[in-house]
Amino acid sequence: MTSAKVSNKLPKDFIWGFATASFQIEGSTNVDGRGKSIWDDFSKQPEKTKDGRDGDVATDSYRLWKEDIALLAQYGVKYYRFSLSWSRIIPLGGRNDPVNPKGVAFYSNFIDALLEHGIIPFVTLYHWDLPQALHDRYGGWLNKDEIVQDYVRYAQVCFRAFGDRVKHWLTVNEPWCVSILGYGRGVFAPGRSSDRERSPEGDSSTEPWLVGHNVILSHAHAVRLYREEFKAAQGGQIGITLNGDWAMPYDNSPQNVEAAQHALDVAIGWFADPIYLGHYPDYMKQMLQERLPEFTPEELKVVKGSSDFYGMNTYTTNLCRDGGDDEFQGLVEYTFIRPDGTQLGTQAHCAWLQDYPQGFRDLLNYIWKRYKLPIYVTENGFAVKDEHSKPIEEALQDSDRVNYFKGTTASLKAAVLEDGVDVRAYFPWSFLDNFEWADGYITRFGVTYVDYETQQRYPKESAKFLVKWFGDNIDAG
Ligand code: NOJ
Repeated sequence: MTSAKVSNKLPKDFIWGFATASFQIEGSTNVDGRGKSIWDDFSKQPEKTKDGRDGDVATDSYRLWKEDIALLAQYGVKYYRFSLSWSRIIPLGGRNDPVNPKGVAFYSNFIDALLEHGIIPFVTLYHWDLPQALHDRYGGWLNKDEIVQDYVRYAQVCFRAFGDRVKHWLTVNEPWCVSILGYGRGVFAPGRSSDRERSPEGDSSTEPWLVGHNVILSHAHAVRLYREEFKAAQGGQIGITLNGDWAMPYDNSPQNVEAAQHALDVAIGWFADPIYLGHYPDYMKQMLQERLPEFTPEELKVVKGSSDFYGMNTYTTNLCRDGGDDEFQGLVEYTFIRPDGTQLGTQAHCAWLQDYPQGFRDLLNYIWKRYKLPIYVTENGFAVKDEHSKPIEEALQDSDRVNYFKGTTASLKAAVLEDGVDVRAYFPWSFLDNFEWADGYITRFGVTYVDYETQQRYPKESAKFLVKWFGDNIDAG
């Protein structure tokens, strides 16, 4: 008699690789016919980035792409998540604007080279770099009738040009950030906010909710197009990826338990509930009343079920307390200090991130139970405190990041093997240190150190840890 051996490893087809995004790494913003994106000028305005630096060079990956692919191959990863720059492909962005053959050729060559190295592309269509022309022409994401059509045309151009080789598509990266940080807090491009010191125009009470709605519709219509016109021939998968950190009640009081759910409703449910369940969360309707746009029945048919999987970007856990007037957090206060005065975990360079791996496991369980679809973790990572000011040799010994990944990989494995959560992919953020949006270059998320003087890349300990961990923990088959 033979007894089936129970594996204590992740399944052999488990996907893992590193992740980046176009504007954060490419640089070369005005070559080969690229049009401007909303981040080009925004990042050049005074005080929009912490170090006053912009994305004109970044990690110079538009020029150094062959070296980047060689390094990915050296790490031995089989997948790479990256994003396409809309304004390289359609410089003016719109459905009647010309496609730029040089932009298409760049990504086409890039994809070919990845495949030649045995690396499978995992492609994000939109990672925050809206063509500036669309913002100037009609207000970009604020204009439903225009943006949905323009985004769908852009997606169509990409499916046609790359879909023979790309089988993993992400429509939009982190719509909460697009909406709230770009049109609510005004800290990301296009920088609209009701705070007049920050922005000459904008209305934070209405615009973010409108933008979120229009992003959902744009995503959903692109997915419909893919399923109707491309999927049969190309056979790929398509979905959206949402940011969302775990929300843990500050204590057991009923109001704080409820507050944690409210935080999840706004951070995650705002997008996930319509896409997976077919409606906005009740709490959002109650909080926003008529400021939350409504879907028509026809729209809902397109929106509900418009993602083949649950795409998850997650970094931390927030302790949630009832109170406050911040609608963007669901009228919930966030803290990292427990009632007994201790910190939740190791503090990262950015204020919003502490290391708490159990929260990752809890979040995976919550998402699996609520949305019941395979989960692709498309981002997870840590920025070591003051890494930017350390000598290179010291920065490469990134033990806080290694500890972070030790914790999250253990949680990942426990969620899959002990809790039965269907997680199929994990992409550490990020392959390289890069342009961290409003933080400029002083917050580093890379598992590879980038010396911005020379553009030399140096593997950190965390890269070595991850390569070894996944080598040891994925079933060899
Ligand atoms: C989320 C974003 O998708 C990515 O662009 C960013 O760099 C990381 N989180 C870290 O903040």
